[in-house]
Parts: sequence; structure tokens; C-alpha cells
Amino acid sequence: MRPSLRPVPAALLAAAVVAAASACGAPPDDAAALARAKAFQQALKQELMAAMAAGGPVRAVAVCSERAPALAQAASTDGWRLRRVGTKTRNITNSPSKADGEAFDRLLADATAPFVRMAGDGDVHWRHYVPLRVEAACLLCHGQKAGMSDELQQALAARYPQDDAVGYALGDLRGAIVVETLR
Ligand code: HEC
Repeated sequence: MRPSLRPVPAALLAAAVVAAASACGAPPDDAAALARAKAFQQALKQELMAAMAAGGPVRAVAVCSERAPALAQAASTDGWRLRRVGTKTRNITNSPSKADGEAFDRLLADATAPFVRMAGDGDVHWRHYVPLRVEAACLLCHGQKAGMSDELQQALAARYPQDDAVGYALGDLRGAIVVETLR
């Protein structure tokens, strides 16, 4: 008896579509990207707050400069890469690329966007930009220079002679967490 031609079950078909998509690059996973950004942001905030409580803003500057890059690296696993970028830059190794600048333009045009997603280039398939807007706690180190203690100004100047990331006001777009999906 000849085997009858049966319709391919929907689940199998879906699996084939997913396999094909990942073969030529997976579709963007917004939820996973947002979850990664959130976990990184929370971990950093927790360490920043603990350092502030233990040793004030000067101690927190040291923690931020050492822990922010380390936590971003620790969060960069399983084909993801995370970094922070600013509309103005404190640490020049965080300087925005052309693509980062375009993402800022889009985030500035829509103050309520939870993220923007852009197709990547090179080894990056997708880039998710999760906005960081200035909260009261950020002003201490990113607000008006005149409002900072001499000690804090000195601690910042010692580490960041080219610091430009000051003068922000509450609600401003400070920058973004960039979550990259690698090819
Ligand atoms: C205790 C001081 C301090 C506070 C408070 C603080 N920051 Fe920063 N921020 C820093 C330092 C120091 C760096 C440089 C980190 C590095 O070397 O990577 C930095 C860098 C950044 C960057 C990366 C871009 C750049 O300029 O290098 C972003 C984005 C950022 N901060 C956002 C925020 C936001 C949002 C808040 C509030 C939730 C905040 N910061 C609060 C000290 C602070």
C-alpha cells in the first residue's frame, strides 16, 4: 500500500521555519534582550547603592568605573554582548558609534519608547537599545558640576580627564544599555 500524503503537522512546519531562520540568522528576541538589559541594570544599581551607603559618592565612583564594565562583560554570554553608551561620554571607551547615535535620535524622538531595535553589522545581528533616563540618583554624578563636592569632582577628574557626562537634568536621555545579538 502506498503511504498516503498527509499534511505536514503545524508544529513540524513551525520547527522547520525556526530552523531555517536560525540558519540565516535568528529573528530578534525582544523579550530576551530586555530581560538581559534589566538584569544588568539591576545588578549595577545594587552595587552602586551599596557603595554609596558604605562610602558615599567618591567610593561609588570607583565601584562604577570598575564594576560597570565587569558586570557588562559577565552579562555577555550565550551569543549576547552588553555595553553602556552615553549621549555624552564620561569614559571614552564607551564613546557612541554612528549606529548608537542613530538610536539616540530615535529615543530622543520618542520619550516613551521602551527600546529601539536596529539591524546590526559585522558580527552583530541585532542591536537593542534600552534607554537610561536620568533619575534623581544619577544627578549626583551626572548633574551640574557646581553642585558636586570638591572631593567628588577630583575623584571624577582623576579617572576621567575628558569627562563630558555632566550637566544632565532629571528625565534627560542619559544613554542606553546596548544589547547585541551576535551572529
Ligand atoms: C557615584 C557616581 C555615579 C552615579 C550616581 C551614576 N553614575 Fe553613571 N557613571 C559614573 C562613572 C564613574 C561612569 C564611568 C564608568 C566607566 O568607566 O565605564 C559612569 C558612566 C555611565 C554611563 C556610560 C557612558 C559614559 O559616559 O561613560 C551611563 C550610560 C551612565 N553612567 C548612566 C547613569 C545613570 C542612568 C545613572 C542613574 C541611575 C548613573 N549613571 C549614576 C558615575 C556615576
